[in-house]
Amino acid sequence: MFIRPRRLRRTKAIRDLVAETDLRARHLIQPYFVQDAEGVSPIASLPGIARTGLQATLKQVEADLKLGLRSVVLFGVPDTKSPLAEHSHDPKGSLPRTISALKQAFGDDLIVMTDVCLCAYTDHGHCGVVENGEIVNDASVAILAEMALTHAQAGADVVSPSDMMDGRVAAIRARLDEEGFQNTAILSYAIKHNGAYYGPFREAADSSPKFGDRRTYQMDPRNAREGIKDALLDIEEGADILMVKPGIHNLDLIWRLREACLLPICSYHVSSEFSSVKAADQLGWVNGDQLLYEQLLSLRRAGSDMIITYAAREAVQKGWTA
Ligand code: PBG
Ligand code: ZN
Repeated sequence: MFIRPRRLRRTKAIRDLVAETDLRARHLIQPYFVQDAEGVSPIASLPGIARTGLQATLKQVEADLKLGLRSVVLFGVPDTKSPLAEHSHDPKGSLPRTISALKQAFGDDLIVMTDVCLCAYTDHGHCGVVENGEIVNDASVAILAEMALTHAQAGADVVSPSDMMDGRVAAIRARLDEEGFQNTAILSYAIKHNGAYYGPFREAADSSPKFGDRRTYQMDPRNAREGIKDALLDIEEGADILMVKPGIHNLDLIWRLREACLLPICSYHVSSEFSSVKAADQLGWVNGDQLLYEQLLSLRRAGSDMIITYAAREAVQKGWTA
């Protein structure tokens, strides 16, 4: 007997019949960079993505919702920075005001996720508080919990700590519950590697560390088991959804985490993964549209339930999610 796998690849209809994975608008989360000033400031290294003020954010989200994109993740790009990042939990800040404006305009049709981290709010650019040149854990966690609470009070559906301090999920859960926000979900960056992966993002969010690097808090990219260990800790602390980041570099970890737990998994198709395809496309070296679509499919195939990607909007517009 001659086995012929090609029988199931013969026509488009047959291929669709046996397809194991798909990409839909409901899987995609569009990132936003919210600036203090009104208007739109394009980000050179993230083609198609801009920093937007409150009104411009509302307008763009409305357009995205019409496309079928129902989830956004908001990153604050504040003008006010200080050693202790006080502005990160100022209810009058641009981010909390944008969160409430979005929830007021779109209610439960829109899922508002917010990034919880200090790096865009500290003058030194680290994700936590610095004492004697060290990024200290527990003082940072206390501020992160206040930041998450401020977002919840403004109406965020999901808060998403990306700082990589120990114990922050438990601290945020406790602080939210204490103030009556039992229903605000936590999407924790369970696995987040340190490296060159986040260059364009740091330009967009103005969040590069002014000294040193993030190696004492973000994970060593040589490690995989450590990521699963940390993810299991986040589950114990009360995380609702787990993030693996960067996604394309960590398909193995998405898969291993899928086998190790029952929570939904979100992967982050990070800025460098997106921008390097765009740059190669501009040089005419790759078919960027097709490659981005194939990257997103790989993230789904590895086991991602949802994906944060700068390509969310174009994925829908260009028919990759049809
Ligand atoms: C902030 C944060 C970063 C990203 C998401 N949240 C940057 C960093 O850790 O330096 C990166 C996202 C991307 O590159 O697209 N902690
Ligand atoms: Zn940070």
